[in-house]
Amino acid sequence: MTDIPSIGIGPGGAWYSGRVNNLLKRVYVHFIGAPLLEHKYVNAVAHALKLGYRLVDYSSAYGDGKLLQKAIRKSGVKREDLFITTRVSNRAQINSRVREEFMRFLKNMQLDCVDLLQFHWPVTDLYLDTWREMEKLKDEGLVRHLGVANCHQHHLEEIFKVCKYRPEVGQFEIHPLFTQKPLIAYYKQQGIVVEAYTPIARYDDRLVRLPVLKRLEKKYNKTFVQIILRWHVQNGVIPLVRSLNPEHQKENLNIFDFSLSQDDMAAIDAVNINSRLRYDPDNCDFSIL
Ligand SMILES: NC(=O)c1ccc[n+]([C@@H]2O[C@H](COP(=O)([O-])OP(=O)(O)OC[C@H]3O[C@@H](n4cnc5c(N)ncnc54)[C@H](OP(=O)(O)O)[C@@H]3O)[C@@H](O)[C@H]2O)c1
Repeated sequence: MTDIPSIGIGPGGAWYSGRVNNLLKRVYVHFIGAPLLEHKYVNAVAHALKLGYRLVDYSSAYGDGKLLQKAIRKSGVKREDLFITTRVSNRAQINSRVREEFMRFLKNMQLDCVDLLQFHWPVTDLYLDTWREMEKLKDEGLVRHLGVANCHQHHLEEIFKVCKYRPEVGQFEIHPLFTQKPLIAYYKQQGIVVEAYTPIARYDDRLVRLPVLKRLEKKYNKTFVQIILRWHVQNGVIPLVRSLNPEHQKENLNIFDFSLSQDDMAAIDAVNINSRLRYDPDNCDFSIL
């Protein structure tokens, strides 16, 4: 698979996180708060695309795609220049609505097909059926590539036993606090492209304070976020970073004019403490993710 960009933007959704426990607040959120937030979201995502991000990492778990479509239209970037990913939500898997959800996304996004369809999580007892549904969508020409998210080796082995099409791309949590070297090696051995989600560990305080990253910032005259994103790229992993901040978006894209030495790559590898920030697919409640 050669057409996937080497860095992606994960815009997430436009969620209102304020507390809406009385009528006045609900009216405020509905008529002012939410529209403002959505306006900001559309502008921020459009800005990222204008800057040069081409891989858009989305999921039906984040929204119905309408705001994303507005952002793409606003950016002026042509559809054929984008690599659009979406994922099947856990809710759709649980309610047997994989096709319905996907068709709604296509309609809201005004697309004929997506570049990559993954499932969001390997929901126990359901993900193999989900995979078969996804294969049908590919057969119908509505999807160019199929992939997975949050799969351990044993999930992939089950898919290999039943699949018509093997997964081409897999995404899971990877960052210096959780380097996942054995899993990355397994995916690569199977010929599956690896994407890193939560690639900068959500700007975790433990990374901000880390002496090795402070040293590398000085050595390369780059921020520690740029150092980490570069580490992903040199590991042959595609980082999917979320930012709605124009300055951060620019900073995160500016990682292709320097290289980390092998020793410095190893120094970042050594930061690993196997600290997962998100969920373990073998130990979580899929119905609330
Ligand atoms: N398949 C899955 O289960 C799954 C799970 C999690 C995530 N994902 C995907 O991966 C994407 C990224 O993961 P994530 O959101 O968990 O974590 P992340 O990208 O590691 O961190 C995002 C946070 O870092 C901040 N940030 C970004 N660039 C920065 C910079 N240069 N300096 C300082 N702060 C910066 C962002 O704030 P600002 O907006 O202020 O920049 C945001 O708060 C998601 O959007 C999604 O597409 C997938």
